[in-house]
Amino acid sequence: MKIILIGFMGSGKSEVGRELSKSLNLPFIEMDKLILQKSGRKNINEIFENCGELYFRKLEEEVAKQLATLEEAVISTGGGVVLDRMIIACLKNRPEDTVVWLATKFATICERLKNDKTRPLFADIKNAKKLYKARKTLYENYADMTIATNDKSIEDIAYEIAKGIGEL
Ligand code: S3P
Repeated sequence: MKIILIGFMGSGKSEVGRELSKSLNLPFIEMDKLILQKSGRKNINEIFENCGELYFRKLEEEVAKQLATLEEAVISTGGGVVLDRMIIACLKNRPEDTVVWLATKFATICERLKNDKTRPLFADIKNAKKLYKARKTLYENYADMTIATNDKSIEDIAYEIAKGIGEL
């Protein structure tokens, strides 16, 4: 069983994923970390600045392909994986796999990321809002389960997911 967490930047995929992996006793995989390792760069900004977004997307696809053989894991994705159908197909390739969308209001995300300097696609808030609007439908379409995360704790969200997939 794999649980694939999708959602916009700042929706809590990493924190929820870590918590969920502990409670379900499954390995936790963070795609952005694997991308960083592959790139040999220090951070995501550096990849975008030096090699461009397209290169980042190429690495993201390569990491997704590597993960296709995994049978059990909680996977925290980057907010942009829904731009590439192939990535989702690599991650969700068994009937028991579940894609969970952490749906968070844009205002909540802005509050969370107001001092964040690690996300190149959130540097310009107007642009980020456009991305948010454009991606909403994609998250919706890929989601087997949607969790509205506003005002919920990490623990509560992880609990809701575990319950939703019948693991509690
Ligand atoms: C991106 C989201 C980031 C990271 C990269 C691109 C996106 O991950 O993959 O900066 O396109 O939305 P988080 O969703 O973990 O911030």
